[in-house]
Amino acid sequence: MAQAVRGSARVAVIRLCNPPVNALSTTTIRALEQEVNRANIDPTVKAVVICGANGKFSAGADIKGFPNIGQPGMASLEPVVSLIENSEKPMVAAIEGMAFGGGLEVALGCHYRIANVKARVGLPEVTLGLLPGAGGTQRLPRLIGVPAALDIITTGKHVPATEALKLGILDELVEENTVEAAISLAERVSDQPLGPRRLCLKETPKLPNMEAFLEEAFVKVKKQANGCFSPEMCFQAIKASVYLPFAEGIHKERELFLIQMFSGQAKALQYAFTAQRVSEKWALPTGASWKTAAPQPIRKAAVIGLGTMGQGIVVSLLKAKIRVVALEQDRKHLELARGAIMARLERVALRMQQNGLKLDGYMPDLLHFTLDFGALKGVDLVIEAVFENMAVKKEIFHKLSAACKPEAILATNTSYLDIDEIASVTSHPHQVIGTHFFAPAHIMPLLEIIYGQQTSPTVIATAMKLSKTMGKIGVVVGNCFGFVGNRMLNPYLEQCYFLLEDGSTPEEVDKALEEFGFKLGPFRVADYTGLDVGWRSREGQGLTGAKLPLGTPPRQRDGRRYSPLPDILYENGRYGQKRGKGWYQYDKPGGNVAKSDPWVHGFLSEYRSAHRIVARTITQDEILERCLYSLINEGFRILSDRIVSLPEAIDTIYINGYGWPRHNGGPMFYASVVGLPRILTKLQKYAEANPDIPSLQPSAFLKKLVALGSPPLKEWSSLQGSQHSRL
Ligand code: CAA
Repeated sequence: MAQAVRGSARVAVIRLCNPPVNALSTTTIRALEQEVNRANIDPTVKAVVICGANGKFSAGADIKGFPNIGQPGMASLEPVVSLIENSEKPMVAAIEGMAFGGGLEVALGCHYRIANVKARVGLPEVTLGLLPGAGGTQRLPRLIGVPAALDIITTGKHVPATEALKLGILDELVEENTVEAAISLAERVSDQPLGPRRLCLKETPKLPNMEAFLEEAFVKVKKQANGCFSPEMCFQAIKASVYLPFAEGIHKERELFLIQMFSGQAKALQYAFTAQRVSEKWALPTGASWKTAAPQPIRKAAVIGLGTMGQGIVVSLLKAKIRVVALEQDRKHLELARGAIMARLERVALRMQQNGLKLDGYMPDLLHFTLDFGALKGVDLVIEAVFENMAVKKEIFHKLSAACKPEAILATNTSYLDIDEIASVTSHPHQVIGTHFFAPAHIMPLLEIIYGQQTSPTVIATAMKLSKTMGKIGVVVGNCFGFVGNRMLNPYLEQCYFLLEDGSTPEEVDKALEEFGFKLGPFRVADYTGLDVGWRSREGQGLTGAKLPLGTPPRQRDGRRYSPLPDILYENGRYGQKRGKGWYQYDKPGGNVAKSDPWVHGFLSEYRSAHRIVARTITQDEILERCLYSLINEGFRILSDRIVSLPEAIDTIYINGYGWPRHNGGPMFYASVVGLPRILTKLQKYAEANPDIPSLQPSAFLKKLVALGSPPLKEWSSLQGSQHSRL
């Protein structure tokens, strides 16, 4: 923290300084309080500017210090915000970079707020299982009204400065020299009355239909929360700002904050925040890591194969301002892709403009379509995104060896194929890497980055850097069938089908998992993505077999239980939403309102009789245990095979790529909360009842952890043992 007195009207500049993001730790809060008091009592100081060091105002309260909240000696931010607001000298916040959480709350305590045009503001506490606890829930609605405050606080969204200006959060925007502009604003207002600028003295603006509005808003907030409590708590605090005087509202905010702070969901959400940052710091079993490997620059990339996935990857690269060569095999597919990509770019441009973001360089200018492999000569990176077929991919990689410069990175977008086999056909296997994007690739945040036996650490570092540049969350994983996400998904989906065979309906399974917190249950997801997608993948693995009449397909493949249910649905033309029928029926092809389908129920009972299965009633607990514990069990296998070194990496993948409810912290965190002995006992029970389902057999690593007394999650990686074969 530093204070300097500047300008003709003697403006004190207080600079928050706690790298890297000027988080408000106890030390920083105390220093801020001290500097505000110093400026208040210094008769020569007429006004005060508060800013942040290194171009960042503040990312809010120090998340790393949360475990100590409530301990003696911990500073509270709210009294300091009030101290600022009640000062008799004008206080001006000069916002550069970001003002999030407690950072924005400090700015709301100030009498004026000026920001750089590129800054962002927001109250993201809700994403950490909290509410803004330093007066944010009381001051923001008083400043911008309940509807806008509800939107910002219950979603935790980052608001660009241009939008914040329109909403009235900011008083002025500047293109540069934010602190200088704040000093001259402070000089201009140094003799203005402060009463009208103190939010604590304002009333929250009332809507004519306030009660009805709040009732409706509450239903919406609860629905969007999907079982997460913090949005509801934020709502209650904002509601208090409407009906209670300021001081009582602050009291209510505190009460709700403390209820949340020690809840299991807050712990899970805060763990998810840290898990993502921990897993971005990759390390290989060989010792190579993010610390030792430097990325190489990517100025120009190529994408081969412009289907849905390829199109999304092109858009992601363009948004990151990377020049792209987009290559297809024939003119017809090239033209189709051109139309689709241009339409997507227009939508992206429109959204950016609506969010007040500037388009530096029109994206299509960076894009070149071609049919010619010769156009790949100068690219720094190729991402091949053709369909999942090993022979086709090998043929392309063979060509790439000759077409690209030796230092070009050769990436394959695959969800389960062997990276080493693909690399084996190139003359530069150390340049080959897997990049598993998730559809729609320009929207979904996750990127699994798969290294092969020979992939160089520089290539991994470059892929991770690229992922960050594209605004994605990269997680480095080893090479095995399905990598992390899809490998764990297989036993989970298997259980969903076995549950239908045993007597459940798609509706019951979906309901159980949606109540657990997934936005869509597995059968709704299958209908949305298309049953043809899964069928093609199973066919590639030789699982589907020949088309057989109803009732005759054996429920075994290679001596293991196999459910042909999704194959039969596919073979009956039930591709999901796109055909208007799948596990559910829809009003029309492409419709998205799912209704129970008597055909499916009839088919399931016929299927059970054909296989002499006596349907039984299956409880919600059994559905959850069989689906979730088999997925978690595979996670333990992945850890012991060292496909990833940290459970945090698995959790980051599941939260950001597979819709796992963030407020449950991810599958491995959830396992640690449920208790490893319970998971082991249940798996043993289900495995005994189903000896032909190997995925239910408890993993050796899970057993080891239980035998060691179930150590906490952060100790698991040190107990993994040596590396096993991954394939
Ligand atoms: N406290 C402590 N550390 C923080 C932090 C915070 N509020 N915000 C970020 N950091 C740390 C990260 O952990 C990371 O540390 P490491 O280098 O050790 O991994 C480092 O700062 C850089 O962060 P990112 O890697 O996330 O950098 P980025 O540029 O991708 O993103 C960011 C920057 C947008 C600020 C992002 O870090 C972020 O969203 N931070 C959290 C913001 C937030 O939720 N604030 C509210 C906190 S709660 C509160 O303020 C009020 C209250 O009443 C309790």
